[in-house]
Amino acid sequence: MNRSSQPSLQTAAEALRGDPRIAQAKQLILDAVAEHAGSLTTVRAANPATAADYEQLLSAAAATRGGPLIWPYLSAGLGNGPYVELADGSVKLDFIGGIGVYGCGHSDPGTITAAIDAAIEDVPMQGNLQQHPPSIRMAERLIELAASDEAPLRHCMLSTSGAMANENALKLAFHKAAPADRILAFDNAFAGRSLALAAITDRPNYRQGLPLTLSVDYLPSLDVNAPERSTRWAVDELRRLLARHPGRYAGFWAELIAGEGGYYPGSHDFFAALCEPIRAAGIPIIFDEVQSFSRTSRPFAFQHFGLEKYADIVTVGKITQVCATLYRESFKPTAPILSQTFTGASSSIAVGLATLDALRDRGCFGDDGWNIRRHRYFAAALTELAAKHPGKIAGPFGEAMMIAFTPGDGSYDHAKRLMDLMFNEGLLGFVCGSNPTRLRFLPPPVITTEAHIDAAIELLDQALAKFELRP
Ligand SMILES: Cc1ncc(COP(=O)(O)O)c(C=O)c1O
Repeated sequence: MNRSSQPSLQTAAEALRGDPRIAQAKQLILDAVAEHAGSLTTVRAANPATAADYEQLLSAAAATRGGPLIWPYLSAGLGNGPYVELADGSVKLDFIGGIGVYGCGHSDPGTITAAIDAAIEDVPMQGNLQQHPPSIRMAERLIELAASDEAPLRHCMLSTSGAMANENALKLAFHKAAPADRILAFDNAFAGRSLALAAITDRPNYRQGLPLTLSVDYLPSLDVNAPERSTRWAVDELRRLLARHPGRYAGFWAELIAGEGGYYPGSHDFFAALCEPIRAAGIPIIFDEVQSFSRTSRPFAFQHFGLEKYADIVTVGKITQVCATLYRESFKPTAPILSQTFTGASSSIAVGLATLDALRDRGCFGDDGWNIRRHRYFAAALTELAAKHPGKIAGPFGEAMMIAFTPGDGSYDHAKRLMDLMFNEGLLGFVCGSNPTRLRFLPPPVITTEAHIDAAIELLDQALAKFELRP
């Protein structure tokens, strides 16, 4: 690859970055952060003296956004690994991380260093008229991680949200497959919050009152308890749809592990059985890895499931901080359909690059890498907990560093009640799916240890002791 983004440039900016005063200032800041974060090593109850002020802040948040926050989380601005201090002085064990965003946890020195480097860039935001070499490095890193002979994803467009990365993916697919106008997706799909993505998302209430902008047909997902039957069922349904709408599909949209939909992983055999006829029909294949990137045995879940040869367009987000759409040469648009004022914050790009380094350096990947080993550890502990609290939790479900369980009877009320109990005990996990509704954890892959998992299990145990199985 042409490493055009890494020439040695003789500039004033380069001299500034090399100025020993900058290194010294960064060290001073890191020392101060470490000193103040040092006490945040376990969960702590809120300071009662802050209760009224905290309530006032929550009311202000509800007033400004036009509805209450999803939960009473307002950060204080400091943390330590998976521990985070809230503005009421409480400390929580954060095993959801803004839904999978903080790969290195809270107040991580590498993250702070990268963000300071970005803060002394000339501008805080990058965009189509303002690109800097780290933007190119980020794109090159993602291409390097994704590309193989079988998955020649040669191009990468950065953007500021998973939804925008997915919009760009949709545009590339429609542009190539024009005049095809339908999308194939899965039951339980979640693709984001734009109008087009709300049409793909398999949640009718997420598009209530919204115009339907896309025609989408849904395929059943893999049933891990009946893999052969459910694969046959999905392939039969696919063949029926391909026959009903010949030449009309512009894209096959797949999350390889359904995230918001409830933590349903697929498998190599399941996806390959669907991708073969889809590829034969010339339909672009899009893998939405906004949630799954970095959480399995490989950087990308399509690599984890051995689906390289089917990946035409792949999107990432969340943990990468800046989001991205990767695509094959043959999808290069022939008209100016992709452009954005903002492609990413300078700090997102710097922190994203630092996170990619940290994921590699901490040995997260590999068939027996840290992600897989910690899944085994966490899953075994959840299984024990399920035996200790019969009927209160079922599972675990998910894959590697995406792990979930079903509380009680699988109703939303049970999941919400246990989530609130966990919150009060100091453990952050979040709902996903419906029928059943589950609780999921997305522990920060770079810094979560088995001791942190033990701490999470202890807090969950305490919450389960208070969890009543009433309707
Ligand atoms: C699989 C998937 N795709 C897309 C999105 C949308 O990303 P964003 O919220 O950054 O727009 C999400 C967010 O949860 C997601 O999980």
